[in-house]
Amino acid sequence: MSSGARIRASVYTSHVPAIGAAMDLGKTHEPYWQKVFSGYEFSRQWLKENTPDVVFLVYNDHANAFSLEIIPTFAIGTAAEFPPADEGWGPRPVPGVVGDPRLASHIAQSVIQDDFDLTIVNRMDVDHGLTVPLSLMCGQVDRWPFRVIPFAVNVVQYPVPSGMRCFRLGQAIRRAIESYDEPLKVQIWGTGGMSHQLQGPRAGLINREFDNAFLDRLVADPEGLAKMPHIDYVREAGSEGIELVMWLIARGAMADTADAPPGAGHRAGARPKVVHRFYHVPASNTAVGHLILENPQ
Ligand code: DHB
Ligand code: FE
Repeated sequence: MSSGARIRASVYTSHVPAIGAAMDLGKTHEPYWQKVFSGYEFSRQWLKENTPDVVFLVYNDHANAFSLEIIPTFAIGTAAEFPPADEGWGPRPVPGVVGDPRLASHIAQSVIQDDFDLTIVNRMDVDHGLTVPLSLMCGQVDRWPFRVIPFAVNVVQYPVPSGMRCFRLGQAIRRAIESYDEPLKVQIWGTGGMSHQLQGPRAGLINREFDNAFLDRLVADPEGLAKMPHIDYVREAGSEGIELVMWLIARGAMADTADAPPGAGHRAGARPKVVHRFYHVPASNTAVGHLILENPQ
């Protein structure tokens, strides 16, 4: 095996701004929140034992860094740092995110040459879509214990990318990361979801059956799941349930789904190990889903 960067694991988790507020305001021991955070106790310990050098963090911006003026479908953060965004009540009191400009530039180079158009972002504030997953996984810390490459996906304004495009992009991100010359431990996180709808007559919609079937298929049949059309996400998981397409980017970057070009000298790897799975309703208006998958070493 070569000595370059390796994707060791993928992490999937919902983001909800109220989860960040519960932590920032010291409410995590209230019974309502205790049930949510109990699902992340294992994950925090696991992350301490499996701290990567870099997390490639797939998330969506909620009209904080971007707006209707500029709508990148896929945006890679190549800056050295990314401050927490002010979402209307001041920036969250969490550490700034430290980036990895050299690896991010390598990924941009590789993925764009591999036929996926990325927007390169050299300056960006990061909203709850990125900071809440970090808080859930790391707890309250003085600094995040790894560098983060923010990767923002448009799931707010249609047209949004298809599940299959996200899955194939994940495969391209894997090729990019695993062709990097430094021996880095990398994780890829897919965030957002699960079922929720924040607007219109169906506001408050939750679909436990759909969510759990999504978790099953994400593990066992990701390529089949990638064929699910947008309308099924929206009908079954609510208008904001479309955030789930981002999980397919992380899943497409795992070893078993590797799509090596002919002659590349490596084949698809073994299936990932499910090291943790959690599902809970509700957190604010959202069903919280969470998975940790490890690639075989
Ligand atoms: C909620 C969920 C989201 O994904 C979001 O971006 C904002 C709010 C909620 O459940 O309240
Ligand atoms: Fe959201």
